[in-house]
Amino acid sequence: MPNLKQGEFVGSLDCGTTSTRFLIFDKYANILAQHQIEYPQYYPEPSWHEQDADELMESCDVCISEASKALEAAGWAKESVKVIGITNQRESAVAWSRKTGKPLCRLIVWDDSRTKNTVAHFEQKLKNVGIEVAPGQFKKGDEGIKALRQLSGLPISTYFSAIKLRWMIDHYDHVRKAHEEDDLLFGTVESWIVYRLTGGATKNLHITDVTNASRTLLMNLKTLKWDPALLKFFEIKDSVLPKIVSSSEVYGELAYGPLKGVKIGGIAGDQQAALVGNKCLKQGEAKCTYGTGAFLLFCTGEDIVQSAHGLLSTVAYQDGSDSKPVYALEGSIAVAGSAVKWLRDSMKMVSTAAEVNDLADSVPDTGGTYFVTAFSGLLAPYWDPGAAGLLIGLSAYTTPAHIALATLEANAFQTRAILESMKLDSKTDLKHLKVDGGMTNGDKVMKVLADIGGFTVIRPEMRESTALGSALLAGSAIRLHGWDISRPETLAEVNTAGSTEFTPSMPEPEREKRWQGWKRAIERSKGWEE
Ligand code: G3P
Repeated sequence: MPNLKQGEFVGSLDCGTTSTRFLIFDKYANILAQHQIEYPQYYPEPSWHEQDADELMESCDVCISEASKALEAAGWAKESVKVIGITNQRESAVAWSRKTGKPLCRLIVWDDSRTKNTVAHFEQKLKNVGIEVAPGQFKKGDEGIKALRQLSGLPISTYFSAIKLRWMIDHYDHVRKAHEEDDLLFGTVESWIVYRLTGGATKNLHITDVTNASRTLLMNLKTLKWDPALLKFFEIKDSVLPKIVSSSEVYGELAYGPLKGVKIGGIAGDQQAALVGNKCLKQGEAKCTYGTGAFLLFCTGEDIVQSAHGLLSTVAYQDGSDSKPVYALEGSIAVAGSAVKWLRDSMKMVSTAAEVNDLADSVPDTGGTYFVTAFSGLLAPYWDPGAAGLLIGLSAYTTPAHIALATLEANAFQTRAILESMKLDSKTDLKHLKVDGGMTNGDKVMKVLADIGGFTVIRPEMRESTALGSALLAGSAIRLHGWDISRPETLAEVNTAGSTEFTPSMPEPEREKRWQGWKRAIERSKGWEE
């Protein structure tokens, strides 16, 4: 195309739970071009959630192609894209063949909870046999739970990837055979995307970054390597696992498509990327992203803080292979925006997600209704795979508006529960919370969060933090615009747009009464399923 301008831009491929996006940013975080597609979700049985790894890949290819066209249509040469970053839904497990480069089965999505029996099996194993932390030295029972948490930062839960991989090996003969015969390649979503974008089986680039690896139950949080004790405990061969790399370095380049030859320079799980995109890079800074689920990350700097109150220890980012990792405490809520989607798609209470705000705003309170949105058990800080979704306090007075408000409150109560745990673990009381994600577009959601939580909610104008975080990690890898993640002052010009604050207005006795009601509802939801 004639007369196209040359710039210096970063692309970010954001492969979320329900959609893929490719965004192109300039040095100030202005978005020059973007494309987004929703891809198919499969729910073949209750509590199952699958995706097709090829369809997911196709969505990445289309997004890169369409956004590149949009960049040209805006007058910029596609050669202006100097590097790309990748960010992804975490914990979702992909299994493919080393020989053919083809998926062996549908991928199991992070919020799929079919693996309850696998979890129960490993809990029993931990109790009776234990984990071999040194040759011949086993830690069992509570000691074992503690040891496993200290190594991986995580509890045994349906949420994490090793459990999903184990389920695939145990339930699909061809996956078991591939595991035995060293034909199996396992990865989380970024691992699969990088493998394919760089040429698949011909190049065989099989990597994962530290943030994604820290969600598998297999990586040692201190050494940032696959841990032999964890591999042995979960009976997984290390030959199937990707090489662990930092979140910011040049890993390879795109093998095809309009951006062929462009370097891949950043990889991070989407919640860690959002932490970086919010510039919460130092100890004490926190954000919560409200997407399909909600994820509150509190940066603990170079210290691994072990939670005694149901939170996870995770890697926040590692800025290059020689840099020290930065860690975070995380509280993960499985259901946030997906509850709004449920009101829209399954309950047909509204025709758009945005309408939930207006519906909730049409009543002064929930009329005593509580909604525990435990569609696939409860994650932090409760960790109960058997918890059931529960609407309680219904009467003839209850209307869809009360249920809509109870849905928004459920989100806020769970955020408060996580913040209370974080306060106890980090000895820091957060007076305000930075938020982003699709669900934060509604003012009512923000007001409910501030009222129920009792803290100030800060919503930035520019809320593409996940994509921006992966762009910053990628740009930093080649020092584009002088960016250097470990020196936040180099990012001063990035995203200087303002923010809106929502302060609590609910009287404290009312907030406390509602909180006590929520705690009673939670107790009724727990342990419902055997
Ligand atoms: O841990 C799951 C998380 O990474 C999913 O994020 O934004 O796709 O709901 P999101």
